[in-house]
Amino acid sequence: MCAQTIRIERIGTRDRFEDFARLPFEIYSGRDAWWPPDIHNEVDLLAGRALIAAHLDLCPFCAWRDSKLVARVSAVVNYRYNEHWNEKLGQLIHFEALPGEDEAAAALLDEAVNWLMQRGMRGARSGFAAFLDYPYNIDNYSELPSFLLRGNPDCYHRYFKNAHFQTEKGQVDYTAALTPQILTRYRQMVDAAHRSGVAIRSWREYGFLAAIDVWTDVTNSAFARHWGWNPVSREEVRPMLLPLAGTLVGDLSMVAVEAGSPIGAVFSVPDLSGMLAQLRSGVRLKPERGGGTRGALINIGVLDTARSRGIGRAMAARSFTTMAEHRMSYAGYTLVLDDNWPSRRTAESLGARVTGNFVSYRRDF
Ligand SMILES: CC(C)(COP(=O)(O)OP(=O)(O)OC[C@H]1O[C@@H](n2cnc3c(N)ncnc32)[C@H](O)[C@@H]1OP(=O)(O)O)[C@@H](O)C(=O)NCCC(=O)NCCS
Repeated sequence: MCAQTIRIERIGTRDRFEDFARLPFEIYSGRDAWWPPDIHNEVDLLAGRALIAAHLDLCPFCAWRDSKLVARVSAVVNYRYNEHWNEKLGQLIHFEALPGEDEAAAALLDEAVNWLMQRGMRGARSGFAAFLDYPYNIDNYSELPSFLLRGNPDCYHRYFKNAHFQTEKGQVDYTAALTPQILTRYRQMVDAAHRSGVAIRSWREYGFLAAIDVWTDVTNSAFARHWGWNPVSREEVRPMLLPLAGTLVGDLSMVAVEAGSPIGAVFSVPDLSGMLAQLRSGVRLKPERGGGTRGALINIGVLDTARSRGIGRAMAARSFTTMAEHRMSYAGYTLVLDDNWPSRRTAESLGARVTGNFVSYRRDF
């Protein structure tokens, strides 16, 4: 497709996949701090080699202005999502574009939407898909975003709105300061769970491999009606999480057990900014953003039948207490839907406050 000097291309070769995967370096490497992509993983996904690819029809597009790559997106039909929700919703993942490329972004999104329409989709979402896509920030543009989240340029909102998308969901990111006072309260929360017959065990205590499967099963059940989620399989989660077995993830992640059965699970990570973020030389992160002092709870779920008994709070409290024992003075409670009040109340009861805001976009055809 041609529009003046802009060319939209469906890509299919390894070289092009690499160009596609490297575009974020062009967009973010001028920042003080950012999370670079895992090029190898992304190329595997584009090439259909990732385990999750079996559930997807995925088509990556690039937008070129003359010979310069200026924007990219992948259009996805996610069969598992559509079966689970009985919807025909396409997803636009991997969206990135240089600032000032309104025309190219519009042509790119148009082409990707057409691809979804041709496959019978009735709408498109960008900004949330299990294991595939995360929402767009609407504040803190110059800060290092929380782990897994993007610090997209502000022009992305203009690009989506000009392509007739609207905000579908708002999401918030919380941070708790791990003060001595709150740590005392956390211990009381864990004790209260124990007194009620619920053991809070770390994944290391429970057995890391067994805990991964518990996480998958509890999450599939707890998130069954959670907006945006689709079921995931033990087979795909194991290779994703098993490499973390020797890390602090095993001490920070939790399983709640009652009468011998798992009833809740938490997945948490230590501060990964030292290992995975890219920092301009001389830049020091604020302690609440990283630099070794910000752990993060990424995911929390309690089975329906065990809710509102303080179990979610107790799992998070033990996770945060363990973070403090490892010199982390802040804990993230990452990504909660604006209207998920059980989770927001859980975060607030842990002393966390909203420190970041995000949105996902949708366009119905
Ligand atoms: C969010 C979730 C983990 C909370 O677990 P839980 O064990 O039920 O929560 P707790 O009993 O520990 O309650 C913690 C706080 O949340 C409040 N809360 C719990 N359920 C609530 C509800 N349905 N409505 C309003 N507040 C609720 C509690 O009152 C408590 O706050 P308080 O101390 O101010 O009274 C659970 O609801 C869940 O698994 N939901 C589905 C998956 C999900 O949304 N996960 C979070 C994604 S961000």
